[in-house]
Amino acid sequence: MSKDLFSLVGKTAAITGGGGMLGYQHAAAIVNQGGTAVLLDIDEGGLKANHDMLQKDSGISVHRYTMDVTDASEVRHVSAQIQSEIGRVDILINNAARNPKVEAADGLDSSRFEYFPVDQWDLDLNVGLRGAFFCSQVFGSSMAADGEGGIIINIASDLAVIAPDQRLYRQPNKAPDEQPVKPITYSVVKHGIIGLTKYLATYWCEQGVRCNALSPGGVYAGQNEVFVSNLVKLIPLGRMAKADEYRGAIAFLCSDASRYLNGANLVMDGGRSVW
Ligand SMILES: NC(=O)c1ccc[n+]([C@@H]2O[C@H](COP(=O)([O-])OP(=O)(O)OC[C@H]3O[C@@H](n4cnc5c(N)ncnc54)[C@H](O)[C@@H]3O)[C@@H](O)[C@H]2O)c1
Repeated sequence: MSKDLFSLVGKTAAITGGGGMLGYQHAAAIVNQGGTAVLLDIDEGGLKANHDMLQKDSGISVHRYTMDVTDASEVRHVSAQIQSEIGRVDILINNAARNPKVEAADGLDSSRFEYFPVDQWDLDLNVGLRGAFFCSQVFGSSMAADGEGGIIINIASDLAVIAPDQRLYRQPNKAPDEQPVKPITYSVVKHGIIGLTKYLATYWCEQGVRCNALSPGGVYAGQNEVFVSNLVKLIPLGRMAKADEYRGAIAFLCSDASRYLNGANLVMDGGRSVW
């Protein structure tokens, strides 16, 4: 058994949604354990910002590629590029998702189930599920093919195990049928990601590819005060998460420390889903 169970020295991790808030944190977790982080995102601005910040903070070289997870040929192209420019990808973190901020001060106003637009359904499922499917197909097949195995981590949510509490998003002076809600697609994508996790955990087990999910609870990012004070009453630990509090879980899930964990959903939500 290796001396440092959490070491990622010699391992390369591809992180979708690497230009976003948690994408940065996942990459920092990889780099801190001695691994190589490859940031992938459709948003070039976010990608560059995270890339530059992580290189500056860690003093370690970080890689980035612009990639739309919904475009199968682009995923194949970027995967081949990484293979030839950096080498084998040992870890895939399916983290990209559309993350509508219902809890922002102005909320969403077009997300109610009664008239939820089919275009938005397609868009959200394309990124959250189709994207995770394409990336797992392309990167996972390579991991399985050469006998070296690998790790796939799917980023779900506490809303992969509980329903959204729509009371949290209510706004004064709005009629009941105009109240903002967490969209249906968020629940469907996140529950679907758990299905994908179980499927993949058993699909390539003989080739040494493990697959687990991480279900983070809400991260505090300046959401409106009423929302936050109502939400924290539902969380046994009495607060929202800090953005960097999932780094330990990523280090665990990506390393030998979790080598007997497969098909699990690590729910890290301050206990919200237990109450
Ligand atoms: N922030 C939270 O409180 C929270 C809580 C639970 C779960 N999560 C989950 O964690 C993950 C990251 O969330 P976040 O808060 O960092 O969100 P974020 O919006 O900051 O990051 C998501 C990233 O995905 C990228 N993306 C969107 N469409 C894409 C596409 N087609 N191809 C490639 N990249 C694309 C976006 O550009 C963005 O950079 C998501 O899966 C989210 O559902 C977040």
